[in-house]
Amino acid sequence: MKANTRTEGGTSADAIEHHYGTGNDYFSLWLGETMAYSCAMWDGDEENQSLDDAQLRKIEYHALQAHARDAGALLDIGCGWGGLLNHVVSEYDVARAVGLTLSQSQADWITSRARPGVEVRLESWENHQPDTLYDSIISIGAFEHFAKLGLRPSEKVRIYRNFFSHCHGWLKSRGWMSLQTVAYGNSLPRDFDEFIAREIFPETDTPRLAELVEGAERLFEIVSLRNDRDHYRRTLRAWFSNLKSHRMQAVRMKGEEEVRRFEQYLRLMAYMFEVGGLDLYRVTLRKIDRPRGS
Ligand SMILES: C[S@@+](CC[C@H](N)C(=O)[O-])C[C@H]1O[C@@H](n2cnc3c(N)ncnc32)[C@H](O)[C@@H]1O
Repeated sequence: MKANTRTEGGTSADAIEHHYGTGNDYFSLWLGETMAYSCAMWDGDEENQSLDDAQLRKIEYHALQAHARDAGALLDIGCGWGGLLNHVVSEYDVARAVGLTLSQSQADWITSRARPGVEVRLESWENHQPDTLYDSIISIGAFEHFAKLGLRPSEKVRIYRNFFSHCHGWLKSRGWMSLQTVAYGNSLPRDFDEFIAREIFPETDTPRLAELVEGAERLFEIVSLRNDRDHYRRTLRAWFSNLKSHRMQAVRMKGEEEVRRFEQYLRLMAYMFEVGGLDLYRVTLRKIDRPRGS
């Protein structure tokens, strides 16, 4: 493991690679064109929308919330396969878009397709040392990895506060941040099938909304907050149906057992969002320039 991918309280780079390193070609079979691996944004109940449109709408939403238009520099923490980075430099005239990931295979994928102005770094947010202040920060589907399973709530809040303190220091005065994360809803850690924790996302625990808010308090004001858990149910169903359509190819790449594992995971997660055991938050935050008591 490289020094800059070392994590203190969150998912390790090895555990990240255990999942995201399953193979770029395999993920591209079912994530769709955008390779976005997070909850999409659907437009009402309209049934004829494509997953790609809904993923693009999500990217646009975060770019708008983070005031990305014409930004000199934007940071995407947990940038996945880099769809947002390429989108903001080409559609929002962002001069420089920097992405952080812990996954070597994602970093390689981005490097081979990066538009001018896009930069990817294989490092944890904990070790990021920017050479400039950012106008905007976006983080989609990464916050879930910042705390390991088994930590006490107070330890989780300490980590989240450390994360928001770093973001606070990296942003220009009154800068904007747009964050998306899964969180516990009407559920307790023990309600979750051990299968997800052991086989799909090892060393990973999602936050509670209250922990996130406490982490950001007096560093950022929360400007808007929405829970779109039904959007994640739909996204997971769309991934499941894509995987089903490409099942033979997927089995050829990964084997029957691995594909079954993914099917089980997608089904289970869709159920948890459907019944409200999990929530999906999109949070817009704005930097408080002079936090009281700091
Ligand atoms: C579920 S993917 C989401 C990717 C992307 N934002 C998207 O919406 O498609 C989670 C991402 O968070 C990254 N990640 C997890 N922990 C991280 C950390 N401590 N520092 C930086 N990135 C991290 C992973 O490497 C991965 O790229």
